[in-house]
Amino acid sequence: MAPADAQPITLTVNGAQRTVTCDSDATLLEVLRDELGLTGAKYGCGEGRCGACVVLMHGRPTPACITAATTATSATLLTVEGLAQGEGGALHPVQQAFLDTGALQCGYCTPGMVVAAVALLDENPRPSHPQIVAALQAHVCRCGVYGRIIAAVQLASTRMNGGATGVSGADHENGAAA
Ligand code: FES
Ligand code: FES
Repeated sequence: MAPADAQPITLTVNGAQRTVTCDSDATLLEVLRDELGLTGAKYGCGEGRCGACVVLMHGRPTPACITAATTATSATLLTVEGLAQGEGGALHPVQQAFLDTGALQCGYCTPGMVVAAVALLDENPRPSHPQIVAALQAHVCRCGVYGRIIAAVQLASTRMNGGATGVSGADHENGAAA
């Protein structure tokens, strides 16, 4: 049964308006995962320190675990589920680059890393290595594949700017150094 202070809220997620009834103190992560079934964003620390729950709110990486769902009602939200072009459709270049460079091991950090990288490349299509590191510094990868993740963002940037579409030996080397 819904709690006494439950209220309906409408969120704009991945281009669609979704109305749910939730507790007034529900986090955005709880609503995304438990009410909307968007389980890409993960629960890690619950304190805004690991990046596992990051989604884009008005295009900016936002830790959904410490964001009240009620504050997101006027926002445009993008989760990792909104990146690919429909069911079975083409992956976003950042997703494809993560696959091609093997930039994931358990994958728990990946949705947050991917959307943060998308936000970075939207703002800065050709980020330097230090800029990529800075953009992802709030994200923890417990598997430690940071080198491959950075290589993936570099590869996505190259492809999105009309560069090589394959994965070079250097890309694999960067990954192996992770
Ligand atoms: S679960 Fe939100 S930042 Fe760690
Ligand atoms: S791939 Fe396992 S936490 Fe990053």
